[in-house]
This record gives sequence, C-alpha cells and structure tokens, in this order.
Amino acid sequence: MARAKIALIGAGNIGGELAALAARKELGDVVLFDIPDKLGLAQGKALDLEQTGSVLGYDAKVTGTSSWDDCAGAEVVIVTAGVPRKPGMSRDDLLSINLKIIRGVGINIKEKCPRAFVIVISNPLDAMVYEMKKVTGFPRERVAGMAGVLDSARFQLFLARALGASQKDVRAMVLGGHGDTMVPAISYCTINGVGVKQLLSKATLDGIVDRTRNGGGEIVKLMGTSAYYAPAAAAIAMAEAYLKDQKRVLPAAAYCDGEYGFRDLYIGLPVVIGAGGVEKIVTIELDGEERAQLEKSAAAVRELVEAAKTL
Ligand code: APR
Repeated sequence: MARAKIALIGAGNIGGELAALAARKELGDVVLFDIPDKLGLAQGKALDLEQTGSVLGYDAKVTGTSSWDDCAGAEVVIVTAGVPRKPGMSRDDLLSINLKIIRGVGINIKEKCPRAFVIVISNPLDAMVYEMKKVTGFPRERVAGMAGVLDSARFQLFLARALGASQKDVRAMVLGGHGDTMVPAISYCTINGVGVKQLLSKATLDGIVDRTRNGGGEIVKLMGTSAYYAPAAAAIAMAEAYLKDQKRVLPAAAYCDGEYGFRDLYIGLPVVIGAGGVEKIVTIELDGEERAQLEKSAAAVRELVEAAKTL
C-alpha cells in the first residue's frame, strides 16, 4: 500500500512541529507548503527532518514546496497558514488577515486535494474552519477545527499539577469556542474515573478554569508568539485518529446541523474521529452552568462568523 500523503499548509512554527511529529510517527509522507517567499524555510525544514530520520530511524519523505501541485491528492491537509498572535492581541484580532489567507488556501485545497480530511488550526479558529468548509464545499465530516484537544491538554496539565497526579490519569474536555468563552466541562473531568469535584475545592477549580481559558495568551506573553508544540501534537492526534480509523472521542470544532440546538455553526464538541473523518458529534448532558456557558460561547462564535461575512 502506498504511504498516505499529509500536506501541511504553513511551514512556520506549528507547521514545522507538525511535520516532525508526522514523520516521527510514520503517519505518511509529508509535504510542507508555504508561500514563495518562505520556500527556503519550507525546504530547509524538510531536509532537516529527513536527516533526522537517519538518526531516529523513521521512514518518511518530507518535501518543502510552494507549489500546490506537490500537495495534490493528499489524504490529510492541516492548515496553519496565517499570522499568529503578538502579545496583547486576542485571537479575534487576526480575523481580517487570516480570513483572506484561508479563502485562498481553501480554493486550492478544493482543487488539488478534493478527498482530503482537512484540519484547520489558524485563528480565530471557529471562524476559520467555518470559512474553510464554505470555500471547499466539503461535507462536514471532512472539515474539522483543532482547538479542543489543545485546550483540554492545558486543562489536564493544570489539574494534574494541582492534584500532584500523573497527567496520564487526568481526563477532561474543553468545549465551546477557542477563545475566552471556552467551556472546561468540569462534570466530565476525572482522575482515573474519580470526579474532580471530590478532590479539588471550588476555588482551586475556578482558578484552573481561568488559567485554561487564558492558556494560549499566557504563552504568547512569555514567547512573543503563539504556542506550537502542543497545538501540533493535538492536530496530529486528530490526523492519526483519521488515518488509523481509531474512532477516538476527541473534543474538536465540528459543524453543527441541529446538534446541541446549534445550526450552521462550528463549535467545539466531543466528536468521534475515524476513517470517515468526523463520524459523529457525541451528545452529552451538560449541567445548567455548562450549558449556559456553551450558549454564551456559541453566541461569541456566531458574532465572529457574522463579522467574517462582512469582510
Ligand atoms: N499559504 C501558505 N502559507 C501561508 C500563507 C498562505 N497563503 N500565508 C501565510 N502563510 C505561512 C506563513 O508564511 C508562515 O510561515 O503560514 C506560516 C505561519 O507560521 P507562523 O507565523 O510561525 O505561525 P504559527 O505559530 O505556526 O501559527 C499559525 O495557527 O494557532 C494558529 O494563531 C495561530 O493563526 C496562527 C496559525
């Protein structure tokens, strides 16, 4: 069987780490695409990663390119094209710049990778993934946004540290939009099956929820740009679930057509990812406060999508 082709659109910080993880996990051959001005960057990273394969012992072809023809027929496309945040910026501040970029990228994906499973990472995430689906016209199963796995990873880390527990034992889901209104679903947060409310005080949990909501901004403030290791790892988990038909239940931005009472909206919800892409949006019961928070988050996403329509 031929190896899968994974096209990474954007060869910047996240793109480079995506390529490194995809190659290391031998998920397929990797095409690292960027604009002509950044061709050297894409080619340099590709060559560096192929040489890494000799040391670490993986077989993956990594190509750097600025030609869409090299992306043709990719099974998976992961999009990080766009600009990241600078200190003091919100994700929403990126809307007008990244929207134009996503429109151009979407047209090429539609033409060159018509059967691909597309994972969008560019921010503001929920509006960008909505635009991607609109431009490509792909079915909702094949266009998803990466945010929930990342936000949940941040939530899980902070919980593990507060508990003095292993990160491996903490499971949690963050739902809603990828912004200040995200919804860390505490009622589904467990340490090896034990509900977290039994183990941590409300004040501690409130502090952790707050830090999770500002988890991206905390890193932007420290580094002067967006995080890239965890965002890349999160998107690779989604790509791997698709390529290996793992049927994983992951929080991801999915297109709602009535689920949770939302229609024509991308928002973070638990989904099943397998060979069919986003095979299912899983409906779970939320307590009153979580439900209210999800509604608020959906309203914020809707506002952004409406703003995008005017640009
Ligand atoms: N096509 C392909 N690549 C593009 C395009 C385009 N039309 N426009 C810009 N790019 C490239 C840039 O040249 C750059 O190399 O996208 C890359 C983005 O990389 P970084 O600036 O390093 O940003 P990164 O940290 O990877 O974040 C990318 O993901 O999480 C989000 O908020 C983040 O929107 C940002 C995106």
